[in-house]
Amino acid sequence: TAPAQVLVASNRGPVSYTRSEDGTLTAKRGGGGLVSGLSAIGPDAGAVWVCAALSDVDREAAHGHTRLAPEDTGGQQVRMLDIDAATFADAYNGIANSTLWFVHHLLYQTPLEPVFDEGFRSQWAAYEAYNSAFADALAEEAAQGAAVLVQDYHLTLTPRLLRERRPDLRIGHFSHTPWAPPDYYRLLPDDVAAEVLRGILGADRAAFLTHRWARAFADCCAELLGAEVTHEGEELTVTHEGRSTRIGVHGLGADGEFLRERSHRPDVDERLADLREQIGDGRKVIVRVDRTELSKNIVRGLIAYRRLLRTHPEWHGRVVHVAFAYPSRHDLAVYREYTAEVQRLAEEINSEFGRGEWRPLILHVKDDFARSLAAYRLADVALVNPIRDGMNLVAKEIPVVSDDGCALVLSREAGAYAELGGDAIVVNPYDTEETARALHEALTMSTGERAVRTKRLAAAATALPPQRWFLAQLEAL
Ligand code: G6P
Repeated sequence: TAPAQVLVASNRGPVSYTRSEDGTLTAKRGGGGLVSGLSAIGPDAGAVWVCAALSDVDREAAHGHTRLAPEDTGGQQVRMLDIDAATFADAYNGIANSTLWFVHHLLYQTPLEPVFDEGFRSQWAAYEAYNSAFADALAEEAAQGAAVLVQDYHLTLTPRLLRERRPDLRIGHFSHTPWAPPDYYRLLPDDVAAEVLRGILGADRAAFLTHRWARAFADCCAELLGAEVTHEGEELTVTHEGRSTRIGVHGLGADGEFLRERSHRPDVDERLADLREQIGDGRKVIVRVDRTELSKNIVRGLIAYRRLLRTHPEWHGRVVHVAFAYPSRHDLAVYREYTAEVQRLAEEINSEFGRGEWRPLILHVKDDFARSLAAYRLADVALVNPIRDGMNLVAKEIPVVSDDGCALVLSREAGAYAELGGDAIVVNPYDTEETARALHEALTMSTGERAVRTKRLAAAATALPPQRWFLAQLEAL
């Protein structure tokens, strides 16, 4: 039977606020795969989206209201939780983005990191409080028998906390990140590692972007909790303390219809003309678009491009790399340093090779969705080389949007590899020599082959568009 009501919970909601010069608050859509996926819910579904206020301006917009103004959210019902700034910062920056994100993306620079000290313990207490605040709000909002879809690593404790408050609800959890294998996951303090697993197992169903991440989660449950894992075909079930949680896989795809339409609007055409002028006539274009995120591996990507120019002088004057690296999580020093490193390397590349009006690298660090789409349209080659990535929607979007078809250079460590690997040029993201060779191969791929591959890539990329991805989670729950 259809649930009485649907609720979605995530840290980042569909919008966050900025203050304009005249003092008014303006709502702006956020970036990242989660928001792209969930935006497809739309106001008609009648779902209530519970999210956190991410900044002082958000807290001001959220304060004293149970719903954001519908004109700010496109009619979507959104409850933004006005969690106090210190608790939010410790939960989001400390635990979610510096601990859980690092564990699942294998980002720690051992032997110096991680260190779980008393500072970590107080952040962990904040993470528990933040998860409780979500569980309280959801328990208050939910009608009898409602379905609640809890999203991502920020909210791993919420399913269990919500079940304790409301055993009548159907609860799903979805992870938008990879899941670490047990030997790496064990870096976490034992109690924290167990609480995160038990928190998610509070759901009736826990879902992932690929089978690889789903299996890693089940392996962690078996090895760390002694849970029983059974499977029927590829469908896993984890049983622990007398309760069973089904494990699902839904590979979020690109929204082909939306992207094709959106990428031909006048604002995109305008930016396309600008970019064409900057690039110059008759040059091949290598495109990458990422949040400036350690796991996206932008620095090694630039090193590979530099290597291509050093080993293949025939490309001088004939190729331009367009790299958009949009600011992300800049409260964390390591992200600010990473952005600076990307900028420094970009300057080095331009001064080593640039001559006349040929600028080999165009780097932009200010977020602009229309300009990203313009770059997608121009791409001859798409470079997607993350160290590890839950899915990577850029790899799925570029083949859908590119005007003349593009060759995809893809890391085998991106979730998207499972669906796109067959038609991509696949690389080990740590191997900059191999990545440089892959770029050369992509640039020299015949137009015929490129067209055939792009068609297959676009078909695979749009197999489960956001709306169907969301409904599939709901139906399975
Ligand atoms: C990834 C995460 C999302 C997150 C997004 C953007 O896609 O899985 O949960 O929203 O990155 O990161 P941010 O920290 O800006 O929300």
